[in-house]
Amino acid sequence: MVKTVRILGIFAMMLFVWTSCHSVRKPSIYKKRFGQLSDGRSVDLYTLVNRNGMKVKITNYGGIVVSLEVPDRNGKWADVVLGYDRLEDYIQNNPYFGCIIGRYGNRIAKGQFTLDGKKYQLACNNFPNHLHGGKVGFDKVLWNAEPFVDEKGPKLRLTYKSPDGEEGYPGNLDVTVVYTLTEDNGLLIEYTATTDQPTIVNLTNHSYFNLSGMESKTILDHVLWMDADRFTPVDSTLIPTGELRSVSGTPLDFRKPTKIGERIGSEDMQIRYGQGYDHNYVLNGEMNTFRLVATVVDPFSGRKMEVWTTEPGLQFYSGNFLDGSIKGKRGIVYGHRSGFCLETQHFPDSPNHPEFPSTVLRPGEVYKTKTMYRFLTEK
Ligand code: GLA
Repeated sequence: MVKTVRILGIFAMMLFVWTSCHSVRKPSIYKKRFGQLSDGRSVDLYTLVNRNGMKVKITNYGGIVVSLEVPDRNGKWADVVLGYDRLEDYIQNNPYFGCIIGRYGNRIAKGQFTLDGKKYQLACNNFPNHLHGGKVGFDKVLWNAEPFVDEKGPKLRLTYKSPDGEEGYPGNLDVTVVYTLTEDNGLLIEYTATTDQPTIVNLTNHSYFNLSGMESKTILDHVLWMDADRFTPVDSTLIPTGELRSVSGTPLDFRKPTKIGERIGSEDMQIRYGQGYDHNYVLNGEMNTFRLVATVVDPFSGRKMEVWTTEPGLQFYSGNFLDGSIKGKRGIVYGHRSGFCLETQHFPDSPNHPEFPSTVLRPGEVYKTKTMYRFLTEK
């Protein structure tokens, strides 16, 4: 009897030690109020946590990724995206931190395009061009949010009905964006849209990353690799000329992992136009195939980010317009090039370049793309 009790005791102890070492965390979602819009509508902040403890906070205002916590090579967690602590700051002055961008991510020359013989004029909010959906793009609207958990992990489904004529774009557009925090530490973003009239669509996410968690004041030591043999050179207003130019022999070549800062001061005309990197890369591999297209490593923390996408293009923006005038989360000042963006997309100004992959969506068709930012570490 005593022996049985002793054996049971030892067994219970072993079970306790095993479960504490292999703490089985359940994927979860928490919702709290983030604030209020001037028209009284309430805005929420959702926290998604996966089994590994990776955490992302997303608000239904602009679908903004507010924070993203990932471990470094020693298991130290840090928030690797730029942003604000308060909703008010996102509303007042947001250089697109973390937002969903639409209907058309990136620039359209002079805000003009012709579709089926009809001319459209959009707002020129980035003189002399249209940028990121206009004055009130998808980054500034309140999305309907439904949190849920499925076998892939915790998810947030955001939906928005963009009315016909909104920001000058034709057709009622129904948009769904599903964020999933996957079990292999990916932030998966799946975009779908349908329309009742021919229109143009190019959706993306505009998160600014600093993989050091802002311990490094700039991203210039981050090492970038991009699977792109070509890019779309731009004019002085950052509109593509139409050429698909080889990166070979230029400071835009990231086919071998290279520090972002290594050639950023180059006299190359493209770098000068962008005031650094602000260019769309023509990704190798098949468009519509979900493939690894870029990696970024912060050598100090060992944090590594992979970018996977079905899109044909990737805008690499090195945070050139950040100038120290923004005080972000935890009171940290965001200086020049303190964050970088890798915006998966169709090419800028595609509606005016029939030779580029089409961004036209017609009734009966479904716009479908997906992108994942996945986090790992390196020794
Ligand atoms: C995009 C553009 C940049 C800049 C940022 C936002 O990445 O390409 O030129 O406008 O958005 O500041």
